[in-house]
Amino acid sequence: MSSEKPTILVTGGAGYIGSHACLALKQAGYGVVVLDNLVYGHRDLVENVLQVELIVGDTNDRPLLDDLFATHKIAAVMHFSAYAYVGESVTDPDKYYRNNVVGTLTLLEAMLAASIKQFVFSSTCATYGVPHTVPIPEDHSQNPINPYGFTKLAVERILMDFDAAYGLKSVVFRYFNAAGADPNGLLGEAHDPETHLIPLVLMAGLGKLESVSIFGTDYPTPDGTCIRDYIHVSDLADAHILGMEYLLQGGDTAVFNLGNGSGFSVKQVIETAQKVTGREIKVVESERRAGDPPMLVGSSDKARKILGWKPQYADIQDIISHAWQWHQRRHK
Ligand SMILES: NC(=O)c1ccc[n+]([C@@H]2O[C@H](COP(=O)([O-])OP(=O)(O)OC[C@H]3O[C@@H](n4cnc5c(N)ncnc54)[C@H](O)[C@@H]3O)[C@@H](O)[C@H]2O)c1
Repeated sequence: MSSEKPTILVTGGAGYIGSHACLALKQAGYGVVVLDNLVYGHRDLVENVLQVELIVGDTNDRPLLDDLFATHKIAAVMHFSAYAYVGESVTDPDKYYRNNVVGTLTLLEAMLAASIKQFVFSSTCATYGVPHTVPIPEDHSQNPINPYGFTKLAVERILMDFDAAYGLKSVVFRYFNAAGADPNGLLGEAHDPETHLIPLVLMAGLGKLESVSIFGTDYPTPDGTCIRDYIHVSDLADAHILGMEYLLQGGDTAVFNLGNGSGFSVKQVIETAQKVTGREIKVVESERRAGDPPMLVGSSDKARKILGWKPQYADIQDIISHAWQWHQRRHK
């Protein structure tokens, strides 16, 4: 495909956040190639909705990566592919270290061999562990409390060392809770299994789930339920374009939080979803889950200041409305 702007490799582009980044890249005029093993991704979204090239393959497959970089002129890599089920990372850490750390290392080695030195990485607020200050700044201590968080922290460390030794420049984005869907209804969240609150609440609203569980109602928060920072997936996608352009213009390795800056409680999310959908959503109040901090809210001032990032959808009602539009279409 010819395009004036360079071509970007998007790993995990058939997944939730990666597909939205592909859409934003395409709309901004970039060439896009997706690498996804389709373990959790959706072929249909890449081939029919996004209509960009899909290479079905794994980041652990070095010969495939060498061939990909030899046959495509790739200017930078956006690396979304990873496994991201926190609970499973506890019961099957090997799966997580192998994919998230070894797979990333293999990708970075292939990039260096092909002299590609710009890398945008999906990290997570899970690297902070239990925060001692909120909103969490980027220089907060990083003490993950599960293997998933450790895999992301390990890659962050690899990236710092690869810059110092090999000049590989990276932008590390630590996302808070990605949520919402493309405002035009083209894309949305379709995890299977689904563990995220907003899609679960909406699936309950659609009658696909009987109820939604609230884990803990006795936290030290105004309504007793956990507070999280929900960031619209299209705002995340925009940040990725800005981060990549920053690198392509010679920017140095940097780490940025990506969050909304304001938190919403589980009860607030459910109440807003009832309002948006007009449906009754059955709630079951359960015990706290181990390892859930009462409040996780990030400061994204650095991304605003250095990248000029301006999230467009900070309102939880907009986030849930866009997700609702997507879920209604998907479950028709
Ligand atoms: N969703 C969130 O709220 C959130 C929060 C923080 C960080 N993240 C990170 O953002 C990234 C994207 O998350 P998502 O919610 O879009 O997940 P997702 O599961 O929807 O997408 C990940 C995609 O990567 C693919 N994949 C996994 N391992 C692969 C491999 N070895 N080779 C090729 N493809 C592979 C999967 O098939 C899937 O399509 C992940 O790295 C995740 O850890 C997500």
